[in-house]
Amino acid sequence: MSAQPIDNLLVENRVFPPVPAGTLGFDRWHIGSIDEYRALHARSVGDPETFWREEAGRLDWFTPFDKVLEWNAPDAKWFVGGRINACYNCVDRHVQAGHGEETAIIWEGEPVGAGGPEIKRLTYRDLQVQTSKCAAALKALGVKKGDVVTIYMPMVPELAVAILACARIGAAHSVIFGGFAPHAITERVVDASSRVIITADGGWRRGDVVPLLKNVEEAVGTLANQGHIVNHVLVVQRTAHDAGRHGWASGTARIGPTKFHWWHDAVYHAGDACPCEPMDSEDMLFLLYTSGSTGKPKGILHTTAGYLAFVQMTARLTFNLQPGAGQVFWCSADIGWVTGHSYVLYGLLMNRVPTLMYEGAPNFPAAPGKPAGVGDRFWDIIARHKVTQFYTAPTAIRTFMKWGDDLPAKHDLSSLRILGTVGEPINPEAWMWYHEHIGRKRCPIVDTYWQTETGGHVGTPLPGAIATKPGSCTLPMLGIDAAIVNEQGQELGPNQGGLFVIRKPWPGMLRGVYGNRERFVSNYWGRVKDPRTGVPYYFSADGARRDADGYFWIQGRIDDVIKVSGHLLGTMEVESALVSHPAVAEAAVVGMPHDIKGNAICAFVTLRASWAAKNPGRKPDDDLRKDLIAHVAKEVGALAKPDQIRFSEGLPKTRSGKIMRRLLRDVACGVEKITQDTTTLEDYSVVAKLRADEE
Ligand code: PRX
Repeated sequence: MSAQPIDNLLVENRVFPPVPAGTLGFDRWHIGSIDEYRALHARSVGDPETFWREEAGRLDWFTPFDKVLEWNAPDAKWFVGGRINACYNCVDRHVQAGHGEETAIIWEGEPVGAGGPEIKRLTYRDLQVQTSKCAAALKALGVKKGDVVTIYMPMVPELAVAILACARIGAAHSVIFGGFAPHAITERVVDASSRVIITADGGWRRGDVVPLLKNVEEAVGTLANQGHIVNHVLVVQRTAHDAGRHGWASGTARIGPTKFHWWHDAVYHAGDACPCEPMDSEDMLFLLYTSGSTGKPKGILHTTAGYLAFVQMTARLTFNLQPGAGQVFWCSADIGWVTGHSYVLYGLLMNRVPTLMYEGAPNFPAAPGKPAGVGDRFWDIIARHKVTQFYTAPTAIRTFMKWGDDLPAKHDLSSLRILGTVGEPINPEAWMWYHEHIGRKRCPIVDTYWQTETGGHVGTPLPGAIATKPGSCTLPMLGIDAAIVNEQGQELGPNQGGLFVIRKPWPGMLRGVYGNRERFVSNYWGRVKDPRTGVPYYFSADGARRDADGYFWIQGRIDDVIKVSGHLLGTMEVESALVSHPAVAEAAVVGMPHDIKGNAICAFVTLRASWAAKNPGRKPDDDLRKDLIAHVAKEVGALAKPDQIRFSEGLPKTRSGKIMRRLLRDVACGVEKITQDTTTLEDYSVVAKLRADEE
């Protein structure tokens, strides 16, 4: 695709200035004014060596580094010569400094018994003991520095322990989201040449058991048939749901030569003196697989010191983290995604702010008086744990909108100070809903733009300094030299759509695609170059524009744009217009071939509960369709008018909550003409479920 300007027809003029720290209960902002931000940003990209040396100085090193950066594009080496350990920086150093009894992790299980949900609190000392034991157990199973340990677990405390234990002994972790099916495990285990898996018998999700152990058994069997032997599987007992699976003793060879061990035997009986291994700055910390638009998943490789330096800084600045100040941070992402790695675990533990981990679904149990599947568990959690910073995804926010305003309204959300969003562009109306109904118009919203590959936030408001605009991730993070350029690498002027690039290396950047140099180079560094020097820029594969204030507006993956009558439209613009209609909860638009326009727009729409309530007995019909089309024409322009509007109960999503536009495109293209039965509500989430099982 060529980088033609994307027409920007959706105009967003609302601006929300930063709020004084005092009014939110912070004693100060780390960065408290736009001037301070601008000065720091200019310094951070003008003299990156000094800037990053200072940031790295916030970490504890076994051996100091002698050089900040060696850059042979696209290969970066950060903090050269230094030795450091991630687990030490998250856990041990806090114990050393006298904070061992402070809460590190607050965990809440999904099931709700008569006495309420199960809650556990782990202090830094608990984490030190448990990571040491787990590390010792892994060593006893033959895991060595440099090995890759696969982790496939529910959101239980042992997941955090397992990750940190790997870091403790210098093994890389490769976490696979617990919602994936066996095929995803086999693919990733082989790619990473991993010989040890940590899992659980099951995990709780919406009142049901996710059969993790069964999936691992299946994967291990398939792998053995392919000639890849997994030597050991370590199993946490969480759900104890299947007696047949529990009648075995630790150390049993259960699938071919693969031995299975209960965590409660292997870990609890292991010694608790296992020191943190000094790692080279550039030693691999973890692999995290991410799906490309084509081909098999890519193992995104992050190394130790750079990732730590970047994530401690971004977590601290974006969320104004202050240790010992009574903050409770909750990121609702699963640790199986990068958001969970960086902002459930590493970023929070390094900054010594308690992090909340919730095991289950937002709609379990159902809210009183509501049908199954409609819940207020998140608001209940925020109220009970007095969460101060809450971080979630647009897809969740749109779901909450759909469930109705009355659910959050019933809860005391006054502890909240900062709200965050991540994962896809947030529609301005969803942003406004979040602002009004969750933030109660008090809390700044940080719309954080980043990727698995970037390690941490690369574009985000800093809440004390940067005014926000709904739908914009605002300005670059310190140390990030972001720009919108054309295919020739030339920076574009205000409001011209182009490619989002980062022109200088940053410590949190990926160091490779595991075992695939070609994909690393071609995917990220092969597209755009510095027009003067020829040095490659990092290209995120997202289209974006900057407005006259320099604010970034991410338009989504460049393959998610539609060319209608010769104009490129970001799917986002049209979707946001639809979602700003009072009847609409969620919308996804895709292109479908059209004789005259080249492509026409097909919109898949789910409706808000409030629409049904206001229109009793009425089915979504042609009148509503006409109304929505007129609304898009008004908000975006006649060009963006959808040719088809299809009402649906749900939209197909990936496991991480991204709308599967590719699938909808197939649906749209496969159907010649819209069904004349205008009263049918289709349920595309069913298609997604089928598809998700293939992942
Ligand atoms: O398209 C952008 C979108 O999510 C992509 C990265 O996905 P992943 O590696 O799974 O990481 C998700 C969590 C960081 C990006 O290329 N994206 C993520 N955050 C935003 C976003 N798009 C717009 N605004 C955001 N805040």
